Amino acid sequence: MTILRRLFYLLPPNMRFLARRLYYLPADVGRKFGTKEAQLIPPKGLIYTGSGDFKAQGEAWLQHFIQEGELAPYHYVLDIGSGIGRIAIPLTKYLNGKAKYEGFDVVKLGVEWCEKNITTHYPQFHFTYIPLDNDLYRSKGLNAASFRFPYEDNHFDFVVLTSVFTHMLPDEVENYLKEIHRVLRPGGRCMATFFLWNEESERLSPSNPKFQFPYDYGHYRLMDDKVKAANVAYQSTYLENHLAKIGLHVENTFYGFWCGREKKTAMDFQDVLLLKK
Ligand SMILES: C[S@@+](CC[C@H](N)C(=O)[O-])C[C@H]1O[C@@H](n2cnc3c(N)ncnc32)[C@H](O)[C@@H]1O
Repeated sequence: MTILRRLFYLLPPNMRFLARRLYYLPADVGRKFGTKEAQLIPPKGLIYTGSGDFKAQGEAWLQHFIQEGELAPYHYVLDIGSGIGRIAIPLTKYLNGKAKYEGFDVVKLGVEWCEKNITTHYPQFHFTYIPLDNDLYRSKGLNAASFRFPYEDNHFDFVVLTSVFTHMLPDEVENYLKEIHRVLRPGGRCMATFFLWNEESERLSPSNPKFQFPYDYGHYRLMDDKVKAANVAYQSTYLENHLAKIGLHVENTFYGFWCGREKKTAMDFQDVLLLKK
């Protein structure tokens, strides 16, 4: 783990938000003079969901949803851990008037930004704040392991979780997979990212010393033992068994380059599972 990352995890969650805001303040002050399209991208200091090119990453995900997940413009989409709109923003240009988008997240700031900047212009995009516990993003909250999604059975065509299960613990992931199965219509798909721990990632992982999972709990591994949700890796066999048990079929696996696999051919930094009900 890098020193910067270690220091960041030492801060309480609300201080992590403040540190980011202050760091990017000079860049964000100038952006109010940008184009209207640029205004639909959050200020850098508010992008608490990860680094890199926010807009390009969102657009790349949309292409994966269409090409690999057969997402159609009229689909009902559920975006779990909708963050600050990285996935929703490109979807506003793809989904049509028959479609529906629901996103939910445990961070109020992200949900409020999305409501103000996305729902105002695209009313079929709906965001919900749910105060669930996650020690990376909040100080306390309700238990995600017993949370029932506020949606009907068999309602969605497509469920997406980009970089969300990578910040959740096993009992929470198990509950969410069960809930995803419940809210997906038969034949519907889920695209979700993970850090998959298997023979290959274990062998390759020393080649990326900045991104390690040293705390071994058998079926899962942690990057940081104090901030458990910082990053979580899952044993592939444990996940496969669980998915089979609840009736989500693994249609495809796209391995990421987090553990040292070749970047050129990878879909993403994280591993991606395409699941089908
Ligand atoms: C790395 S960010 C990714 C955000 C977004 N999916 C994206 O790709 O930009 C992880 C997100 O998961 C949310 N999160 C964490 N625990 C969650 C939970 N139990 N349910 C829903 N969202 C959660 C966080 O608040 C954060 O917005």
